[in-house]
Amino acid sequence: MTIDLAALPHDFLWGTATAAYQIEGAVAEDGRSPSIWDTFSHTPGKIAGDDNGDVACDHYHRWREDIGLMGQLGVNAYRLSVAWPRVRPDGDGPVNAKGLDFYDELVDALLAAGITPSVTLYHWDLPQALQDRGGWPERATAEHFAAYAAVVAERLGDRVHHWTTLNEPSCSAWIGHLEGTMAPGLTDLTVAVRASYHLLLGHGLAAQAIRAAAPGVQVGIVNNLSTVFAATDRPEDAAAVRRHDGHVNRWWLDPVHGRGFPADMVETYGVELPEQPGDLMTIATPLDWLGLNYYFPAYIEDDPNGPAPYARSVRRPGVPRTGMDWEIDASGIETLLLRLTDAYGARKLYVTENGSAYPDVVRPDGTVDDPERQEYLAAHLAACASAARKGAPLAGYFAWSLLDNFEWAYGYAKRFGLVHVDYRTQVRTIKGSGHRYADIIRAHRGQARRAA
Ligand code: IFM
Repeated sequence: MTIDLAALPHDFLWGTATAAYQIEGAVAEDGRSPSIWDTFSHTPGKIAGDDNGDVACDHYHRWREDIGLMGQLGVNAYRLSVAWPRVRPDGDGPVNAKGLDFYDELVDALLAAGITPSVTLYHWDLPQALQDRGGWPERATAEHFAAYAAVVAERLGDRVHHWTTLNEPSCSAWIGHLEGTMAPGLTDLTVAVRASYHLLLGHGLAAQAIRAAAPGVQVGIVNNLSTVFAATDRPEDAAAVRRHDGHVNRWWLDPVHGRGFPADMVETYGVELPEQPGDLMTIATPLDWLGLNYYFPAYIEDDPNGPAPYARSVRRPGVPRTGMDWEIDASGIETLLLRLTDAYGARKLYVTENGSAYPDVVRPDGTVDDPERQEYLAAHLAACASAARKGAPLAGYFAWSLLDNFEWAYGYAKRFGLVHVDYRTQVRTIKGSGHRYADIIRAHRGQARRAA
């Protein structure tokens, strides 16, 4: 697999990504309050193996070692998320100094190691206190989010120049409030549509709050997008493709680009939006960059009796899949990068997540061999480089994930890391894919040096 590294800019960000609840552990330490994920994961039957994030990768105590691992991988960027319940345990109440101190020290250590921090403010861990007052379906949550964003940006904005408001708001809204397999575990279309609206409103308000607190920083949003194909050539499947695309892609892209919520989807949902004057302008607050999380394509068929958007994914037999049972199609990342460039006029793009889970084991010689993940990584990087060659303004790639971690409803059963974690001992082992990533980064740097 050849990667056209020369197509990538010399100052390309080579990173890894994580999220607070998936790695930190220490859920009751230094003033952190429970989030909706603590509640959900402690509800019997919600998570495979009844796992939870109480300890996770114990990153809260082992972050120095984890920065050392990043150094070994040779990355120059790290995408982390701040836990809202550490910083404002009540959601909108007093700021918890110890919570902020943790991220402050982490950021300083990253910078000292030559690693650019990219900070996400919301990766799904809403303080439970706010859920108790209605959560994202309530407008006030969007306002509290912006206030929390300002607190974090005031503290870190002198050193952190890359900010993400929301990670994958479609998961928060649709999986958390409609499908019910993620926190807070609700299954109500009206509630889900209201949540989606207030997430995007919160994004716009937070983008403004970050800029007011830390002028000159770069602000973006991260969406998980999918390429969408019809399972058959039946006309009703073509219509279902349009609805699925609206549900997972356009609903999240159009409003932030000033196009409003897609009218066809408003009609499909049949739910009145809780819109107030000026909201659409706020949601469309101009952004410095867009983040793409890409994992798999969707093959869709009409599902008139199913839940909105009345379209369901079909499992295609005989195609390669990861350990998540997700179909592998590296060309999708190129298609989506070009779609963001051509249809949405993106001026700067990052692949903020991309990766694969496999059931890795540490071999008797202490190594972890993961040829499938290496192949996945190389194929997707080749597709990214191809998109860049065709004009996508791609400025960085963040592999998901630095470490094996708590994979939400799948618990610890799915391993996405470039670094293996033994959850019993917390021993970390760089996998073959981690070494491969380091080689690719080194090759790009060498090339950039020679070209300079
Ligand atoms: O682990 C998740 C991450 O939290 C959000 N994006 C997808 C990853 C893999 O499922």
